[in-house]
Amino acid sequence: MSKLTESAHAHRKDEHLAIALKQYQEKSDAGFDDIQIIHQSLPEIAVDNVDLSTHFAGLTLSTPFYIEAMTGGSERTGHINAKLAEIAAATGLAMAVGSQSIALKEPAAASTFTIVRKVNPHGQIFANIGAGHSLDDAQRLVDMVAADALELHINSAQELIMPEGDRDLRWRDHITEIVNGLSVPVIVKEVGFGMSQETINTLKQMGVQYINVSGRGGTNFARIENERRHHQELSYLSNWGQTTVQSLLEAHAVSNMQIAASGGVRTPLDVLKALILGANAVGVAGHFLRVLMTHDEETLHTYIKDWQSDLRLLYALTGSHTTADLRTVKTVLSPALMNYCQQRNLK
Ligand code: FNR
Repeated sequence: MSKLTESAHAHRKDEHLAIALKQYQEKSDAGFDDIQIIHQSLPEIAVDNVDLSTHFAGLTLSTPFYIEAMTGGSERTGHINAKLAEIAAATGLAMAVGSQSIALKEPAAASTFTIVRKVNPHGQIFANIGAGHSLDDAQRLVDMVAADALELHINSAQELIMPEGDRDLRWRDHITEIVNGLSVPVIVKEVGFGMSQETINTLKQMGVQYINVSGRGGTNFARIENERRHHQELSYLSNWGQTTVQSLLEAHAVSNMQIAASGGVRTPLDVLKALILGANAVGVAGHFLRVLMTHDEETLHTYIKDWQSDLRLLYALTGSHTTADLRTVKTVLSPALMNYCQQRNLK
């Protein structure tokens, strides 16, 4: 990797990473505890016959969870991207890079993203950019990592809380242009504030087919940006947004969208519940980062392998041969979640 002069943008990447790790909480508030899976005693299945693969954004993923968008842009985060890419290659997981927009302004930063493709030449990689960019910029960043899909992040809450954030949130024309013109599928993604049925409907009308609801409950960019502000003026926004589980239920109201879930996924059981609630794929960011940074690469590698084998057991426990079969698994919602669904007219 070429030597990077650490700019204000690169420094922000390091700060996000450090504060996300510092604020990490063992307990997720993403709502997975509000879903009870009904146990069936005769699943009539052999674990060997379980197939974990899933289809999302025109791709077949061999494992339904993947390493979600986090980082790149500074020397330190480039090294982390390289480690994550090695683990993705060794486990067959798809991986998203963090926002590459810094590489448009600072060409030296490109190497902190291209390293991911170098380390994992045949893996499935998602490029990542904010929604205010042009089609040309998006295509450049996709080509930079030879991406299989683009995550286009919509992060209005984060931008407004960030002191140096965007104050012009008119993104719809850009999104439509990118969705219509890009060479690879486009996944429109939140960053931990969740999505509503109204947002998802609007995206659908704009031609978007793939979304990542990325809900509240895990990494919390309201809290992260507040900590960066020092005076924490907007700390009352810490609970802004829909949880991951609420967002998945919101998505039920809109047909024919393929959905990824992320936000507060901590266990294979959370992955299972997200898939049962309709996700086609599940992204894990903060939790994998925490395992990597508090241990090492080998630990995260083994950890992901364990999740893959645990998930096979969970599919079998619910009598599901395939990811699609999970849709028929019966669940009961907590009273609080039922109440949310009633007020929002959700099934
Ligand atoms: C993120 N996330 C993120 N998302 C995105 O689309 N582009 C980005 O550049 C980043 N940057 C970033 C940095 C760090 C350090 C973290 C932990 C996360 C958001 C991430 O992809 C995800 O949507 C949320 O973090 C919620 O998932 P978790 O962390 O609760 O699993």
